[in-house]
Amino acid sequence: MTSRDIRQKYIEFFVKKGHKEIAPVPLVLEDDSTTLFTSSGMQPLVPYLKGQSHPEGTKLVDSQPCLRLEDIDEVGDSRHTTFFEMLGNWSLGEYFKKEQLSYFWEFLTEELKLEREKLYVSVFEGGSGVGKDEETVKIWKSLEVPEDHIYFYGVKKNWWSRTGTPDKMPPGEIGGPDSEVFYEFTQVKHDPKYGEKCHPNCDCGRFMEIGNCVFIQYVKKEEGTLEELAQKNVDFGGGLERITAAVGDQPDVFGVDLFEGLIKQIETDTDREYAGENKQTMRIIADHMRASTFLIINGVIPSNKMQGYVLRRLLRRSAVKIQKLNPDKIVKVLVETSKKVLENYDGMFGVEKEKQVGLVGEVITTEIERFGKTLDKGLKEVQKIDKINGKAAFDLYQTFGFPLELTEELFREKGQEIKREEFYKEFEKHKELSRTAGIGVFKGGLIADTPKTRKLHTTAHLLQASLRQILGEHVQQKGQNITEERLRFDFSHNSPLSKEEIEKVEKLINEKIEEDLSVSYKTVTLDEAIKEGALGFFKEKYRDTVTVYTIGDPSTRQTRGSLFSREICGGPHVEHTGEIGSVTITKEESAGAGIRRIYIKLL
Ligand code: ALA
Repeated sequence: MTSRDIRQKYIEFFVKKGHKEIAPVPLVLEDDSTTLFTSSGMQPLVPYLKGQSHPEGTKLVDSQPCLRLEDIDEVGDSRHTTFFEMLGNWSLGEYFKKEQLSYFWEFLTEELKLEREKLYVSVFEGGSGVGKDEETVKIWKSLEVPEDHIYFYGVKKNWWSRTGTPDKMPPGEIGGPDSEVFYEFTQVKHDPKYGEKCHPNCDCGRFMEIGNCVFIQYVKKEEGTLEELAQKNVDFGGGLERITAAVGDQPDVFGVDLFEGLIKQIETDTDREYAGENKQTMRIIADHMRASTFLIINGVIPSNKMQGYVLRRLLRRSAVKIQKLNPDKIVKVLVETSKKVLENYDGMFGVEKEKQVGLVGEVITTEIERFGKTLDKGLKEVQKIDKINGKAAFDLYQTFGFPLELTEELFREKGQEIKREEFYKEFEKHKELSRTAGIGVFKGGLIADTPKTRKLHTTAHLLQASLRQILGEHVQQKGQNITEERLRFDFSHNSPLSKEEIEKVEKLINEKIEEDLSVSYKTVTLDEAIKEGALGFFKEKYRDTVTVYTIGDPSTRQTRGSLFSREICGGPHVEHTGEIGSVTITKEESAGAGIRRIYIKLL
């Protein structure tokens, strides 16, 4: 069975069970400022898991391309990847544990015909004030999963939220206990290096997790406690590449069809074999090129900031890996591998090989030719350094373009560690570089959903509408960042704002707050949203429906003045502008050619 067959079977199976197939979203969600990448299928569904009604109903299914940087250091073993396709199904307050576990079990054993003896499950043993998941145990038993195939783990393994364990969840974040299914590759012998006894969550490679049933039934409160959600949801995710590996009883994920062509291409172009140490190197290149290709077709270009920095890091790390295999072939390997990626996904997820192959090749070539100029010298410099410190790591970054993480990896190989604080200190000294480039945002980068961040988010809409009214319709949002303390808002405008203009904008926002306008939302197609005049300055490539937030009474749109703002946005927002209180503009400055930046605080 190919990955294509399995994807199709999964969607058809859940459609037969009454689910609606929804369109996947891009890897970079431009209307979601809370996160860098789509890292699981549930990400675009967060508002609906929190209770908003979804236009397609309460039972959904899809296959979603995902990117997870958390696992980047694990890539190279037989099963970790940064980029992957997540098969997902959801119940938005409809069915719960019994149906989900039965459906998935039926899919694995009857549709995919996996041997029951090779399947194991894990269940939440309790923790963080939430009890052991006895109900799930009962259900697995009723499905004839033998007792010795059921394992128990705590919050570290059997709790899921976008930010991990309950203590790491910011206020407003949702999550819950989960139950995972594992496939046992009986041909892989347990390696005692990973512990005396093997078990489903052991890292030796005998077991592989192939699906996670998350029971999203809690929300984190500001006081730090977990509260039951009124709507109990199911969020299922299973890696297509891994399920395909299990179906083929193939313990190496990089041996499945989605990787096979890539690995062969790397072997041919480097003239090296996928064996011994080369295995790890080639796996990293194949993985990073899948991620890079998708990022490029989603509009990301290498830079020192945010998503662009991640792409740079992936491409440059791949280049260093190829250098070891065959230094003359760096650009060729990268470009040819990216073509294979486009081929694998042609016609899906916004991939149009013929149209995109030129762009992808160009972005890779430009980036690597630039890096190539300093790569050799940089690597020689690395050899010269006896003891690495933050300053040396910063020089490698500044002069030779070595991303911090790449330098860290090269020194881990030499048994040395870099103190990140030292690196950041150097970084701070160089104001022209963006602070976001190397810093922890890549570990997840979620902002909290708190009353304050909601207020500031709604303020951003009021600000954009006010700027357009006072400065003109050329004003378009170019970026936005919200913390508990302030809103930072970038927009297109050619000259500094006068004191008078700033005062006018601030006054208008506060007037609209005082009018206590309602903030309402609805989900419509992108075309409808644009027809209604909703603002949305992003280049979405494939997306069926969007949420439009309206400030002011939408029914009296014709009577100028009452409708104040209408934007495509993922939320969340306050319900009435009056909740915001009042705000003040604290700073106005340049943020690059033709772009101004405003900082606003709540009073
Ligand atoms: N959202 C869950 C996960 O990513 C299914 O594992």
